[in-house]
Amino acid sequence: MNLSDKKATLSFSDGSPSVEFPVYKGTVGPDVVDIRKLYGQTGMFTFDPGFMSTAACESGITYIDGDKGELLYRGFPIEQLAVNCDFLDICYLILNGELPNGEQKKDFDTQVTHHTLVNEQLHFFLRGFRRDAHPMAVLTGLVGALSAFYHDSTDITNPEHRHISAIRLIAKMPTLVAMAYKYSQGQPFIYPRNDLSYTGNFLRMMFATPCEDYKVNEVVERALDRIFILHADHEQNASTSTVRLCGSSGTNPFAAISAGVACLWGPAHGGANEACLQMLEELQANGGVAKVGEFMEKVKDKNSGVRLMGFGHRVYKNYDPRAKLMQETCKEVLAALGLENDPLFKLAMELERIALEDPYFVQRKLYPNVDFYSGIVQRAIGIPTSLFTAIFALARTVGWIAQWNEMLSDPDYKIGRPRQLFTGHVTRDVPEMNKR
Ligand code: CMC
Repeated sequence: MNLSDKKATLSFSDGSPSVEFPVYKGTVGPDVVDIRKLYGQTGMFTFDPGFMSTAACESGITYIDGDKGELLYRGFPIEQLAVNCDFLDICYLILNGELPNGEQKKDFDTQVTHHTLVNEQLHFFLRGFRRDAHPMAVLTGLVGALSAFYHDSTDITNPEHRHISAIRLIAKMPTLVAMAYKYSQGQPFIYPRNDLSYTGNFLRMMFATPCEDYKVNEVVERALDRIFILHADHEQNASTSTVRLCGSSGTNPFAAISAGVACLWGPAHGGANEACLQMLEELQANGGVAKVGEFMEKVKDKNSGVRLMGFGHRVYKNYDPRAKLMQETCKEVLAALGLENDPLFKLAMELERIALEDPYFVQRKLYPNVDFYSGIVQRAIGIPTSLFTAIFALARTVGWIAQWNEMLSDPDYKIGRPRQLFTGHVTRDVPEMNKR
């Protein structure tokens, strides 16, 4: 963070003295005005619900240029990473700042692979849930419960503990997600197999049974690996900010990540992939492509409460680069599985075409986001809709943990404690019961 020559001055119309604030420059992206002393100097807070103009931290992990539609992990464009790396390369990069060389990759992959097994007791913990529980409810519980099983890596002041808990979380998430799925199906859990890739192992834990092994299909494995890569981190989104805020109290990493899982569940965030596929399925059942025009009218009508799921983004005001890559993967997977004529894919393409020409979407700069096509890919692979957000959580775990680690390594870090503009009652006396 470099101090800029520029300073910001805040002046008041009532004649109170104006105050000056330092301005910092990042390596790229908007400068920030440092208002940390605002309250001390003026007795006033800033007001920015939804963090529309607030940088809540300093970070060197992921950069998004929303106007250009650019996404960089540690400086590398997502388009290059998606074709040249596998998910564990990306995990290494996000955690350590550089891509691994051959030896580093071998070591890292081995470390992750050897932590995929979960404590057997977690099976019994999971069995306490109803079989029809939403996988995100199960996952929130299971991730939080990890802190009860792995006490030996919860000292957040110890870098070795932080490292091992990062490896454990990345390694165990696929096992937990697959367990949540198997439980919902009434099938036995499938243990991880260390000779498979990260993604291949996950597919096998999902789809093998004790009666029949699962042979990993390379196209499917590559497609899912790409889904993981595209979801690995996304700077200070809602769930990542949740992990940072939760972690800022000094809680253990498993507790902080489970808070991230809970936040991700919402339909405006990670839950959008599930909501998007449900929207496409409903539209298909109610007339398909022929009814797209009518549906779009509803989307544009603010009173209908209907949004075009998988569209729009707080930061991207141009095409989401992840959506472009996902659309490519979608075509590849559907072709490989003989589903080129998949009606939902056609419907999605038609919705996109109409939306991108419609002034409502053009004026508001609404483009497809990553979730618009990821559901179609996952459905083609055989992943049930209710598990989509859990897959997102699996992939985002590395981003959450890297951001949490970055926060703890920052000597200036403090517990997150936003303030408020109070508009409730001022002091009043409690009335007696007969006067309430
Ligand atoms: N369909 C219809 N109108 C929309 C949509 C949409 N999907 N998204 C935004 N708008 C309109 C909104 O009504 C508003 O219009 P107006 O200015 O007339 O009031 C304007 O566009 C700005 O919307 P906003 O809600 O103020 O924007 P935001 O930055 O607060 O919200 C968003 C961003 C992603 C929550 C929102 O675009 C949305 O709800 N999209 C659908 C859900 C979705 O796909 N979420 C996944 C996001 S990407 C993956 C992830 O981050 O997890």
